[in-house]
Amino acid sequence: MAEETRELPAELRYIQYSHSLEKKYLPSIRALISKDLSEPYSIYVYRYFLYQWGELCYMALDPLQDSLLGVVVCKLEPHASHSPPTLRGYIAMLAVSSTHRNHGIATTLVRKAIDAMIERNADEVVLETEETNVPAMKLYERLGFIRSKKLHRYYLNGNSAYRLVLHLKRVDDMIGDGGGGGDGGII
Ligand SMILES: CC(C)(COP(=O)(O)OP(=O)(O)OC[C@H]1O[C@@H](n2cnc3c(N)ncnc32)[C@H](O)[C@@H]1OP(=O)(O)O)[C@@H](O)C(=O)NCCC(=O)NCCS
Repeated sequence: MAEETRELPAELRYIQYSHSLEKKYLPSIRALISKDLSEPYSIYVYRYFLYQWGELCYMALDPLQDSLLGVVVCKLEPHASHSPPTLRGYIAMLAVSSTHRNHGIATTLVRKAIDAMIERNADEVVLETEETNVPAMKLYERLGFIRSKKLHRYYLNGNSAYRLVLHLKRVDDMIGDGGGGGDGGII
């Protein structure tokens, strides 16, 4: 059954994740993300990202109830198959509550994550998304991501994916996409 679409609260709050917020928000982060996954990630996957790159995770909160409406989870590390190595950001997970979509929440979350990566001198940002995920493809392409590779039968359900890349530095500084396997993100 279709879920009712709610009015967006006037003053949505966007906050950066920090370890002190784990108890309060990690259960809702898992719940929000696993809603759109066929196979939920274990708690260790979330901790892998949040312990090391919590400052690249942003949450959208309803200001009245402090409830989680959206989240983006990322990482940033050297990518050695480029020579010289690039500093590669990776968007591992992105989800917005189904009742609050199409209000620009994901766009704001992704922009904040990209800004945080730029502050940390990232060269590029990559991610994979299912080729059938039209809202996600539109969102990322609107933000300037381009399709760098098709990954055939990338997901367990047999669906293919696109690797998308956003170059943050001069294009002639980058040496191709580098390829390589996925970094473990699905949504
Ligand atoms: C993909 C997903 C994260 C998008 O979230 P969202 O918050 O609805 O995305 P946005 O609102 O930022 O953008 C969606 C549309 O709203 C429009 N929009 C942006 N700002 C807006 C605003 N202030 N008011 C109204 N509409 C707005 C955008 O133009 C966009 O439209 P278009 O891309 O069709 O042209 C969401 O659908 C989701 O959680 N899906 C399930 C999980 C998933 O697929 N994650 C991504 C995997 S890579």
